[in-house]
Amino acid sequence: MRRIFCIGFQRVMKLYLEATLKVVSALAVDHTGSRVLSGSYDYSVRMYDFQGMNSRLQSFRQLEPFEGHQVRNLSWSPSADRFLCVSGSAQAKIYDRDGLTLGEFVKGDMYIRDLKNTKGHISGLTCGEWHPQAKETILTSSEDGSLRIWDVNDFKSQKQVIKPKLARPGRVPVTTCTWDREGKRIAGGIGDGSIQIWSLKPGWGSRPDVFVEKGHSEDITCLKFSSDGQILLSRSFDCSLKVWDLRQMKEALKVFENLPNNYAQTNIAFSPDEHLFLTGTSFERESKTGGVLCFYNRAKLELVSRVGISPTFSVVRCAWHPKLNQIFATAGDKSQGGTHVLYDPTLSERGALVCVASAPRKKSLDDFEVQPVIHNPHALPLFRDQPSRKRQREKTLKDPLKSHKPELPMTGPGFGGRVGVSKGSLLTQYLLKQGGMIKETWMEEDPREAILKFADAAEKDPKYIAPAYAQTQPDPVFAKSDSEDEEK
Ligand SMILES: *[C@@H]1O[C@H](CO)[C@@H](O)[C@H](O)[C@H]1NC(C)=O
Repeated sequence: MRRIFCIGFQRVMKLYLEATLKVVSALAVDHTGSRVLSGSYDYSVRMYDFQGMNSRLQSFRQLEPFEGHQVRNLSWSPSADRFLCVSGSAQAKIYDRDGLTLGEFVKGDMYIRDLKNTKGHISGLTCGEWHPQAKETILTSSEDGSLRIWDVNDFKSQKQVIKPKLARPGRVPVTTCTWDREGKRIAGGIGDGSIQIWSLKPGWGSRPDVFVEKGHSEDITCLKFSSDGQILLSRSFDCSLKVWDLRQMKEALKVFENLPNNYAQTNIAFSPDEHLFLTGTSFERESKTGGVLCFYNRAKLELVSRVGISPTFSVVRCAWHPKLNQIFATAGDKSQGGTHVLYDPTLSERGALVCVASAPRKKSLDDFEVQPVIHNPHALPLFRDQPSRKRQREKTLKDPLKSHKPELPMTGPGFGGRVGVSKGSLLTQYLLKQGGMIKETWMEEDPREAILKFADAAEKDPKYIAPAYAQTQPDPVFAKSDSEDEEK
């Protein structure tokens, strides 16, 4: 328990979701706050369900989207029926809510020079996000120096390629990307330190609408729009967090410094009312502060509070869930990691608290006791062991009646009421062949032609119903088909 002032949390309690083998580098909580995804540098994605979880706080499913690739971002669709997984591979993947793979986007041809002509990214992805409102649209950014917009129903090619503006032609990685709240603008952090923003309007493309040449002096790890679209926050390896006024981006409104950052996924999050924003810091041996969450007041542009998360781990991802009023912070280092959940026992709701309330079951399925078995082969029949299940099954298999074995076809002429195979194995086949009504060539013939062959004969010599009415009835008039296709 620790006190944080000013942020509404009176008492902060901490929970720890299951350890991973390396730092937790991606985090996504769905809008209802019941399902949480975490991704790690240990290549795994873990899925948590707060409703079905007990106080051991274990994931219900683990995935490995791409063997040997760090997980870099996870993002729920607006309705949380699917999620996007971005890893260090060139191909983003889409999963359904339960973790079943729905598909992966194509990888582009790396020998094509112009990125606009490739069908997908050609090197590792850095970030990606589902459109905040459109259910079918996602955005990705890559080390190949492009951003791409995709339709999730078409895994074979992107819808649009965006190439950032560069001082010199070449390939500079796009280190992070994001949508604004309405999905009308996208922002990209470019490896040359520039921040570029594109507005989605008819005919938009390569030229950014906003271009901040010297956004940061090192790689940008996160960009975040406020939902009113007035400010943009940026976080970078250069140990700073900058606040930008979107109406004039020449100079940052404010720069917060001395925020160590060694992870390309270190992000920024807003509080639900957006009065505060927060970011994590990386552990550095010299500084001794460890991994900390820093909270800032948006109006006053000042530090409000610092909450220690771990003395030896770096804090990478943070999120403040509006419905649950809980703060998630992922942390770790090269050999372990995990997700912390901060909550106020009086202010926070459900979420991780559900699991604290449900104590682990006393007995679990996998700690059953084995009953001892005593064999006594020479006992009286009455006391003998039941033959084993396997032997019983083998015995019934040998008995044709008990095992419902189908009768084998007869070879040679038939007898005892069964027809032999000598001339067509089925009686009807045999009879029809005798009567000559079915020719053996029927397999190769067009059925329509086969029927029409008899048309003339049938007209001259009508056999079935027609002759009975021929005397008394007028010529049949058939209704015309009213479907256009058939008239043609
Ligand atoms: C990653 O995805 C989340 C959505 O789950 C998004 O909020 C975030 O801004 C994305 N990117 C970064 C750099 O955090």
